[in-house]
Amino acid sequence: MRPDKLKARIFLDGGDPHETQQALALLGFLDGQTTNPTLIAKNPQAKKLLERGEKFTKEEILNFYHFVVRELSALMPLGAISIEVYADPATTADDMLLQAEKMFSWIPNAHIKFPSSAEGLKAAEQAVKRGMRINMTLCFTQEQAAAVYAATRGAKKGDVFVSPFVGRLDDRGEDGMQLIANIMRMYGQGDSHVETLTASVRNLGHLLRGLQLGSDILTAPFNVLKEWADQGLPVPDEGYVYDPKGLAPIPYKDVPLTLNWNQYHLEHDLTVKGMERFSQDWNALIK
Ligand code: G3P
Repeated sequence: MRPDKLKARIFLDGGDPHETQQALALLGFLDGQTTNPTLIAKNPQAKKLLERGEKFTKEEILNFYHFVVRELSALMPLGAISIEVYADPATTADDMLLQAEKMFSWIPNAHIKFPSSAEGLKAAEQAVKRGMRINMTLCFTQEQAAAVYAATRGAKKGDVFVSPFVGRLDDRGEDGMQLIANIMRMYGQGDSHVETLTASVRNLGHLLRGLQLGSDILTAPFNVLKEWADQGLPVPDEGYVYDPKGLAPIPYKDVPLTLNWNQYHLEHDLTVKGMERFSQDWNALIK
């Protein structure tokens, strides 16, 4: 059951509805799920098809993604389900928006994921104006998070998530959890319309530190949620000490929240690499 002290929402990061059922049984609750092209490629049904030497057509893979999120939505009708548009580094904002319109109609509780790139931000600004809920993914800097804030001014709280990817920063020796702390501090100057969703969680330490920092939402793979459940769903207080294990600190920057989104420095190599990887994993499923 949800611990009384737990303020944050907890999502499963995955692409398999059976796993969602298991997570629900284990935790006794779940507030939503994040999916992405790589996670859909790891879905056991998709993997079986590939193992038989078959692939999807473009239409079939979208139907399959639709089927998966419909199952997730049925399991968590009150939760938020993130669905990611196909975006390689050359995909335009218009193309992302077209996909977003379709995907948003798939289920009543969708959040559409766009990359935190210039084209992704352009698409996000329009998507919010058209009444869509969104989740800005592949965020690696405070500037990108500030641009998300700026592009979505006026949106209702709950409609916009930003997903800083902590594990991928850790992977290259930077303390990803510090980016969460920095974004939370920066957003503290604003109107709180963007919710911080700690993503690319790789271990229980990430989850506990995110809870301690007051991240609005955390998404974690099944194995991390299981470890959390095995330990009795602890919610850390101020006394908890996170060990960054020698990772390089990411210093806080004074980034104003008052600019237009396209005045922020948006480029980050991990955002580009992330789009490349997501699109490769997706394309590998298609004939
Ligand atoms: O929520 C985003 C997540 O799926 C990315 O995680 O482990 O691929 O960096 P990871």
